[in-house]
Amino acid sequence: MNKIISMAIASAIAISSCTSAVKTEDTPLLWLSSGEPSVEAEIIVDSTLDLHPDGFIIKDTPQGRRVMAKTETGVLYGRYALDRLERTGQASGSLDILEEPSYDRRILNHWDNLDNTVERGYAGHSIWHWGEEIPVERITQYAQLNASIGINGSVLNNVNATPEMLRRDYLERTAAIADIMRPYGIHVYLAVNFSSPVALGGLSTSDPLDPQVRKWWADKVAEIYSLIPDFGGFLVKANSEGLPGPQDFGRTHADGANMLADALKPHDGIVMWRAFVYSPQGQDRASQACDEFAPLDGQFRDNVLIQIKNGPVDFQPREPFSPLFGRMSKTAMMVEFQITQEYLGFSNHLVYLPPLFKECLDSDTYSKGEGSTVAAITTGQVYPEAYNTTAVAGVANIGRDENWCGHDFAQSSWYGFGRMAWNTNLSSEDIAREWLQQTFCSDKGFVDPVLEMMMTSREAAVDYMMPLGLHHIFAWDHHYGPEPWCEIEGARPDWLPKYYHKADAYGVGFDRTLAGSGNVGQYNEPLASLYNNIETCPENLLLWFHHVPWTHVMHNGRTLWDEMCHRYDAGIRKVREYQAIWSGVKPYIDDQRWEAVNAKLKIQESDARWWRDACIQYFGEFSGMPVPKEIEQPERPLEELKKIKLDMKHHN
Ligand code: GCU
Repeated sequence: MNKIISMAIASAIAISSCTSAVKTEDTPLLWLSSGEPSVEAEIIVDSTLDLHPDGFIIKDTPQGRRVMAKTETGVLYGRYALDRLERTGQASGSLDILEEPSYDRRILNHWDNLDNTVERGYAGHSIWHWGEEIPVERITQYAQLNASIGINGSVLNNVNATPEMLRRDYLERTAAIADIMRPYGIHVYLAVNFSSPVALGGLSTSDPLDPQVRKWWADKVAEIYSLIPDFGGFLVKANSEGLPGPQDFGRTHADGANMLADALKPHDGIVMWRAFVYSPQGQDRASQACDEFAPLDGQFRDNVLIQIKNGPVDFQPREPFSPLFGRMSKTAMMVEFQITQEYLGFSNHLVYLPPLFKECLDSDTYSKGEGSTVAAITTGQVYPEAYNTTAVAGVANIGRDENWCGHDFAQSSWYGFGRMAWNTNLSSEDIAREWLQQTFCSDKGFVDPVLEMMMTSREAAVDYMMPLGLHHIFAWDHHYGPEPWCEIEGARPDWLPKYYHKADAYGVGFDRTLAGSGNVGQYNEPLASLYNNIETCPENLLLWFHHVPWTHVMHNGRTLWDEMCHRYDAGIRKVREYQAIWSGVKPYIDDQRWEAVNAKLKIQESDARWWRDACIQYFGEFSGMPVPKEIEQPERPLEELKKIKLDMKHHN
């Protein structure tokens, strides 16, 4: 009896210690307690300080605590940082902090369309409310949330850009949005369509070497800067997935990018030119960006950055880093991450993404010997002469939903992207901890188990979706569930799962060795040899680089087939652990968010079983081997699963 009473008291204490951090239902400010940081410190802007313009110093002096920076934006970041330290219990000792960002430009890419749909958006329509009244308060909150984590740029529209975006009325609207965000240090950028001179300007060509085309762009850029003096620049998807580009005129990506760069240069604008290019004629999609861009190294203007997805294919649950990061030394490159979970369960699955970001940033390209990590390359440390400015991008997961991201935990990947863009050395774990403390509750009884859940969640998703280097075995078009059997008549082969898994009676996986597509050869040594050899290839990328016999013996002694089955099983078990953890922490947080996450975890568990049933039974038809007895057996027959066709739109 006594014991029960004391437990009840302990839990009441725990709960009461949390309530101040728990958000009320109508607080939309996520991890912030209020939009403007309120800290007890003297604020000093000193333009003579030897600091990055966004950097700051927080220092306890005999005269008291000070936040110092060279610019207004710098002190704003310093105030938000101090506010975070205070709210996470780290501000009590004597502080002596100097922070400068890893990247100059820390940018969100919104894939928002002018009809307010969002490509791969799972949290409602566009927060910009195109064609409607400008939601000043919401955009202000957006800017505050971003400023608090150091994000200083927003590309407002979809990379699949419509020429209309550059119409005068939309530019005026963009200027109004820029005005709201400016006090928070956020610059706006736009994605542009390469055919705009024809489609919007009425010219007969968009050839980048045509003087009239060049003049059209120069005039358009001047018009933009007359409205938005601190406009950031353009993001361009060209000659990719059917979009127009310089190759339509026999010109190169460098010709196209440089034409825009020349127009932007007088205004200090930049071009972020995407390397997301592949064609069905190419032999291996994973090799094509490198094949096309590496020979252009050194041909780009100094205000061009090549924007490269973290992996060589397309934001899969796990990919190796894109080999292009290790292949250019005279060209500025930037990483593009996807925060929205196109391939990771949309806003239904709890998948904390910073470990994925970190895996890429920490990957060693060996471009200039050991230590040439993707982070070191793209922050300009390895080839400083190639980097006039540095940048990193994340495809946003933000929409009009009450909780902004559709899943309360999806906010943590937005938060984590910003924090890591500010400091690539931060650990995913520290970021998760501070996010939990600010968003939910500081009590150890809550933070420790939930932190464990977040930290393992990406690996769990890899396990229940596509373990061991499997990739792109998603359902057609919407990419939500499994469809490794998918066949669509007339479809591009490189948009079909079989192109990637290549399952047959012998084995499974894409042979990218030197004897196969040769893709391993795009990696610098020692990686090329490491990946090329089935014995040394990391097992989490095995089926990415090798076509592996079903009977291949893994490091733990299991056959490939048995290991694959065990991985699917492990993924499901992990999600069930999350459900148990979440039940255990119910007393610590408000019912509304507890219920919402609980409901999503149910979907995640059911989806994990769906993935297992589909993949194990489908691949089992090739392996001809039984599902190991010690794991839970598939439930629903494959034929039934093959009939599932979800009416999920490309946009929501
Ligand atoms: C993926 C995604 C598309 C997107 C494209 C891109 O293919 O499915 O919706 O347009 O990436 O990054 O350009």
